[in-house]
Amino acid sequence: MKHFLSFDEFSKEDILEIIELSKQIKREYLEGVKIPYLDKKILGMIFEKSSTRTRVSFESGIFQLGGDGIFLSSRDIQMGRGEPISDTAKVISSMVDLIMVRTFEHEKIEEFARNSKTPVINGLTDLCHPVQILADYMTILESGIENPKIAYVGDGNNMANSLLLFSAKMGFEIGIATPKGYEPDAEILSKSREISEKIYISNSPDEVVSGADVIITDTWVSMGDEAEKEKRISDFNGYIVDEKLFSKGSENRIFLHCLPAYRGYEVSEAVIDGSRSKVFKEAENRLHVQKGLMVWLMTK
Ligand code: CP
Ligand code: NVA
Repeated sequence: MKHFLSFDEFSKEDILEIIELSKQIKREYLEGVKIPYLDKKILGMIFEKSSTRTRVSFESGIFQLGGDGIFLSSRDIQMGRGEPISDTAKVISSMVDLIMVRTFEHEKIEEFARNSKTPVINGLTDLCHPVQILADYMTILESGIENPKIAYVGDGNNMANSLLLFSAKMGFEIGIATPKGYEPDAEILSKSREISEKIYISNSPDEVVSGADVIITDTWVSMGDEAEKEKRISDFNGYIVDEKLFSKGSENRIFLHCLPAYRGYEVSEAVIDGSRSKVFKEAENRLHVQKGLMVWLMTK
């Protein structure tokens, strides 16, 4: 049995297999071919943070695969009132076939997975957001870019961390520009550097965007950072992906953002709503890659 908590436990071959399966399932879905890959299987979904895309894509995804989903908000389950994570994991995993968890500290999902009898999928933690990166990769491939040079500008948050480790595993060149003090996680950076030499960490957005094929940003104020909002907005001054910065990318550059986006802060309206922005295809691809991932995990 395998969990999907981060790219740590996944090889390039695993990632390619998941993407291939996702592409096939997407094709079948778009052609109206309904194959119940996960007939009668039940997905439990625990959300300790808000969500639009993750909830809808997992819930629709499991239905489309012939299964059913149970939405569990931490406001409603006993874990939110202090029931141990280990007890919760043992109980829920004795009743469902697959569990998705969105939570704060990454250690929580690790503890959950250690106590779960069924595969656990990370639907975002403070440390990483790997399902999003699978959708990003599918979108990059669909844009005709095979061996991307990737630039990430902004907060060295969960998105930056997952993108970094993913790029290292895949052998893609990646440049990350953050203000001082907002660099990606040090442990993930050092792990990524052990795998790949094509990693550039900088404080200069211009430097990393120059010649990049895929330019990515994310909110400056992630869920859990709300108390620091004013300070962050001031610290990230100069890190907006606007037309001037974006134009420094390669000729066929695309823009990605996991959403939700805050126009006028991390990205300008002209870029996110411009013709090179693939953010809505990227969001839709959450549905397809997560269906592929669920099927892949259930057949491991
Ligand atoms: N990108 C993403 O995970 O969006 P939600 O927070 O809406 O799920
Ligand atoms: N970095 C953001 C991503 C939201 C999908 C957050 O953690 O809030």
